[in-house]
Amino acid sequence: MIETVSWKNNAVVLIDQNALPMTLCYVACHSYQEVISAIKDLTVRGAPAIGVAAALASALGAAALPVLPPDKFRREFDKICAEIAQARPTARNLFWALERMKKCLDSVIASESNERSLVPSEAKKLLRMPRIAVSPERLLTMTKRKLIIEAKRICAEDIAVNRRMGENGSALIADGDNILTHCNAGALATAGYGTALGVLRAARNQGKALHVYVDETRPVLQGARLTAWELKKEKIPATLITDSMAGFLMQQGRVDKIIVGADRIAANGDAANKIGTYALAVLAAAHKIPFYIAAPLSTIDVSLKTGEAIPIEERPAGEVTHFRNVQTAPNGVKVYNPAFDITPARYISAIITEQGILKKPYVQSIRTLMKGSLR
Ligand code: MRU
Repeated sequence: MIETVSWKNNAVVLIDQNALPMTLCYVACHSYQEVISAIKDLTVRGAPAIGVAAALASALGAAALPVLPPDKFRREFDKICAEIAQARPTARNLFWALERMKKCLDSVIASESNERSLVPSEAKKLLRMPRIAVSPERLLTMTKRKLIIEAKRICAEDIAVNRRMGENGSALIADGDNILTHCNAGALATAGYGTALGVLRAARNQGKALHVYVDETRPVLQGARLTAWELKKEKIPATLITDSMAGFLMQQGRVDKIIVGADRIAANGDAANKIGTYALAVLAAAHKIPFYIAAPLSTIDVSLKTGEAIPIEERPAGEVTHFRNVQTAPNGVKVYNPAFDITPARYISAIITEQGILKKPYVQSIRTLMKGSLR
């Protein structure tokens, strides 16, 4: 199995996605600041993988804090989370994971303080029992350990969620389908298995024959470098194309379905994904080809009414003017490099989640789904 993000020997271990497909190697981050750099420079990328890395980074940051009273520890943890939150702006999963880590710390602190302020009858009962005194140091070690456990749980849950999404989405895939995908929404973009590629993995595992057209995905080539690598490893037949070829393939009737991931989905179903996704969705509508998004609930942001409110990251010009230090544009040329675009909900045929397949109108189906999933 591809282990994109993990916790090993008190470090966050990441597959170095910038080294792929030529080299499969790992980097170990020993501080949360190193994880932030790895998220920024795309060593780890893809919305769910960024979320898992952020959760593990916050646990790593907490582990390095000195002995502090609970309220001060919480404030320091908040500062760490705020720094991690600055790493990349678009993927909802990053913020979702940090919110979950903060909730975990709150409940740990609350249960510890409950223990210290027991109601008299309970306190009496406990006083009669032999008690081992818990020092502040020991209490803190336990708190830090619980944060690591929670971050590891977020990592393990992501794989389980992807598998469920794969099972749900595979119902939309027919034997013999030619499917186009963009960017990398595979095991490398998650803790494992993948969202859009997870659906394809599940369909293939059910015995369906598939062929995948892989958009190279300029400027950073997540399709050519990562998706093509994953599909080759899985022995799923695939053909690599440049982004500008997709429309011609659709016109030729070579594409049966399009399936991609998402970085953030607004309450009305508008979805942010890798730059170029919007163009594919419009082309799909023009050619009456189903266009599917596969994403976990942690990607849905009901606080945003429409996609217009989704922050779109702008990345360095060097990604467009150079590839791996080879210059491909004249010195000083002006560059615009938005990393994502927004696909309006009307172009999305269905949204595949771990809880089922959402249909239009998304305002309603998303509201019902998110209400049901509130714990
Ligand atoms: O800039 P990236 O590589 O992080 O962008 C990734 C994407 O756009 C993916 O399609 C998206 O995160 C979904 S991944 C399951």
